[in-house]
Amino acid sequence: MAIRQVRTKGDDVLRKKCKPVNKIDKKLQELIDDMIETMYNANGIGLAAPQVGILKRVVVIDIGEGPMVLINPEIISESGEQVEVEGCLSIPGIWGEVKRPAKIVVEALDREGKPRKIEGTDMLARVLSHETDHLDGILFEDKVIRFIEPDNDNSPE
Ligand code: NI
Repeated sequence: MAIRQVRTKGDDVLRKKCKPVNKIDKKLQELIDDMIETMYNANGIGLAAPQVGILKRVVVIDIGEGPMVLINPEIISESGEQVEVEGCLSIPGIWGEVKRPAKIVVEALDREGKPRKIEGTDMLARVLSHETDHLDGILFEDKVIRFIEPDNDNSPE
């Protein structure tokens, strides 16, 4: 496992649309393991593959309940709304309020390629929305309602 360089705002790779994964092999699992290590190293709660320069539809999340791996995530439903402060590992030092769904249901493959359905509410819904946006080149700052002063309690995505 290795820590990969987190790409930051201004790097074109963050604005590209990622391609679906069509083969779950050792190389992909290495990428996933590196992404998890990179996320923990940066004290983040989510990381998408383009943030380490790889244009594949892969996301890792840990909101304090252990690592979650999503390959080719598809949002199948969204409901309600929440407005919370968020940040992003690719936009260091910037925080803002973003409106996200209160509940979200995502279908994805896990690290081994097994299909999973993930239902997220509150923080998990927000992170799922934030990370799937990354796969389409969307950054949280595109959706910010109001930028705010940083709060030490927040973890970037
Ligand atoms: Ni992010």
